Amino acid sequence: MRVRNVKNKDEILKNSSYVILNPEEYLGKWRDVFNNSNPIYLEIGMGKGNFIIENAKTYPNINFIGLEKNGSVLTYAVKKLEGIDLPNLKLICFDASNIDLLFFKEIDKLYLNFSDPWPKDRHAKRRLTSPIFLDKYEKLFRVNNIIEMKTDNKDLFEYSLETMKNKGYNEEDISYNLTERDDFPNIKTEYEEKFILKNNPIYFVRMLKRVNFWKKEKIFMNLCYNYVNSRWLMRKCLIILIVSLTFFTGCSIKKVETDSLKNIFETVLYRKKKLSNTYMNGYKFYLPKGVTIIDKNEYNLKLKDQKTYYYLYVDTIAYHYKTNNTFTINNKNFFSEILENGNLSGYIDIEEDEDRYFVVLMYNYAKIESYVPKDYLNDALTNMSYVLSTINFNDKVIEEYVGNKGTVSQEESFDIFDSKKESDSFLKYEEEYGTYKEPIIIDDDVVDIDETND
Ligand SMILES: C[S@@+](CC[C@H](N)C(=O)[O-])C[C@H]1O[C@@H](n2cnc3c(N)ncnc32)[C@H](O)[C@@H]1O
Repeated sequence: MRVRNVKNKDEILKNSSYVILNPEEYLGKWRDVFNNSNPIYLEIGMGKGNFIIENAKTYPNINFIGLEKNGSVLTYAVKKLEGIDLPNLKLICFDASNIDLLFFKEIDKLYLNFSDPWPKDRHAKRRLTSPIFLDKYEKLFRVNNIIEMKTDNKDLFEYSLETMKNKGYNEEDISYNLTERDDFPNIKTEYEEKFILKNNPIYFVRMLKRVNFWKKEKIFMNLCYNYVNSRWLMRKCLIILIVSLTFFTGCSIKKVETDSLKNIFETVLYRKKKLSNTYMNGYKFYLPKGVTIIDKNEYNLKLKDQKTYYYLYVDTIAYHYKTNNTFTINNKNFFSEILENGNLSGYIDIEEDEDRYFVVLMYNYAKIESYVPKDYLNDALTNMSYVLSTINFNDKVIEEYVGNKGTVSQEESFDIFDSKKESDSFLKYEEEYGTYKEPIIIDDDVVDIDETND
């Protein structure tokens, strides 16, 4: 990228509330910078900032950090932000060669957009997807490593697929011409706009690498070693780690459990399935084995399996208007997280009671709640994920329905996006749903599952 040297760039960056001038000081503490525990997405080589700024505007419940090594380029982004208040955005002027000095286990997704291709072999190690950079990225991620890359450069794309696969990443989503994808909520970068005008194909890939808990702890030890670079301090780090693990075993167990929840999202909720065996007005879905419908009305279904009840609410109006999710993570809960997968989003909120969890899962314009025995959490969440991920809306029927309703306003449909916050919600839930008898409706609509569609 060629830009004029902006003479007063230091002054401009210093005076911007978006720019963090001493980013090394926040290693491991970026959630304090944002004052919340929302996910953090990082873009390296953000250039003039269109992508990161528009993302921050579109997704207020995600924190965004843009990193750019060229101070003059960064001033363009700062100027775009004049008069705009985005508490979920921070910018850093820094060379990503030392990225591991800035973040430790706190990034949820990394964006690499139109990175410099460095076509000569002798410059390969400067590519942001070279094995050297990929090793540095290992320490950044909070749970799993997720890298999203866009480029118009085929050689860089193929090189990056190879280096990432060699480091244990797998393709989650890939496209050789992103502009042709209408299922992808794409926010364009400045370079992307230029390349699209030239009719260059835009390559896109989302790569995922699952990292298990113990491996993460090993990374922590490595970081200690590299960072302090002294055997004496290394020993001290070891002692602190062992003491922490002994005293906080509860926390470690919770971490392992929550990792298994994330696996359910990735293997069930985020996998698009064509299964269906239950037909409702305006949508169909797949009712997992062992789950039956015990009650239904216009919008709601009450379901039951051997151990728990489920309450399903499908919001066809929100689907029709493509309403955005406005959920905020609740730190006090056992588990609370925004869910994002392509153009679908939602949230999971789990509150802990003495021997049960109250689970709210919202995704794909529907919400399902359950009051689950503790040892049944994973099974219940798998059932819930099956139901929500297989909901398939019938545009024609919904169009007609919304048209006929006439007076239905968008606001009416927003309630599924509010998480239950009342402390007595378990009791209310029990009162309302906990007393259902054995199946009272035989659902004639249920037909056998068509496995060939999966
Ligand atoms: C080709 S531009 C793309 C800019 C922007 N992502 C876009 O798509 O419009 C690449 C940008 O990455 C920045 N960059 C390259 N290497 C970097 C590094 N090691 N650390 C931080 N930024 C880097 C460059 O300064 C440049 O602004």
